[in-house]
Amino acid sequence: MKISQRLRDALLSARRVVAFTGAGMSAESGVPTFRGHQGIWKKFRPEELASMEAFLRNPALVWEWYAARKKIIREVEPNPGHYALARMESLLPSFTIVTQNIDNLHRRAGSSTIFELHGNIERNYCIDCGAPQEEERPIPSSGTPECNECSGLVRPDVVWFGEMLPEDQWEGAERAIESADVVLSIGTSGVVYPAAGLPVRGKQRGAYTVEINPEPTELSDWMDEVVRESSAAALPALVSALERGRG
Ligand code: OAD
Repeated sequence: MKISQRLRDALLSARRVVAFTGAGMSAESGVPTFRGHQGIWKKFRPEELASMEAFLRNPALVWEWYAARKKIIREVEPNPGHYALARMESLLPSFTIVTQNIDNLHRRAGSSTIFELHGNIERNYCIDCGAPQEEERPIPSSGTPECNECSGLVRPDVVWFGEMLPEDQWEGAERAIESADVVLSIGTSGVVYPAAGLPVRGKQRGAYTVEINPEPTELSDWMDEVVRESSAAALPALVSALERGRG
């Protein structure tokens, strides 16, 4: 796969680079995306599974769904795209991942500077006292785990519809985007706000913006460059171009 001279030069001269990632990043690991023909939201209604109202109405159902997602995510491995981003962190002076994904695959691939805008499925917390709960806590026969400290209901530490993003993660992401020289928008349809506004914010602050996605998205027209490839193909090619440029 050929990387444009413009993109290679932008990365080689960049001081700060941000990768903004979405579900497409993990598609080649075998984690289903949300939209599109095979998307999760084609089979399930988000308001029945991914909202506080849904949880309070039927916590066991919501836990059953998250237990199934946790299982898929535990069984898959990071793909070459995740590993390429981890490698970029060691090649570039400052490299930050801002992800909408909850699957923990960036960390498992070795990336360390990561802002998780929508939480992390590996963590849980109590909705009454807020105490974090052990990740492996078994779900009892009621189908709903209870807090170790106060017996309140435990929920997955992910952002549901209608909820605010975690403040520290959002602020870190904004800071990284606003000072970026290059923003790569990878595997996201760019429709869920406020996260989807970040690549455009980067562009307005002068970053060179690049979309990596086999399909056009809501963000495509805003981008300086689009790479119509999968992330597992494009990102290793980007790393090779960087390594050649440095060597
Ligand atoms: P979507 O499912 O909306 O979009 C996935 C994108 O990945 C699409 O644009 C695909 O074309 C693209 N894609 C598919 N395979 C790819 C590949 N191999 N390489 C690169 N791109 C590929 O997922 P998100 O944009 O992440 O929110 O969705 C945003 C948010 O909507 C999620 O974080 C989640 C969901 O509701 C919450 O749960 C709060």
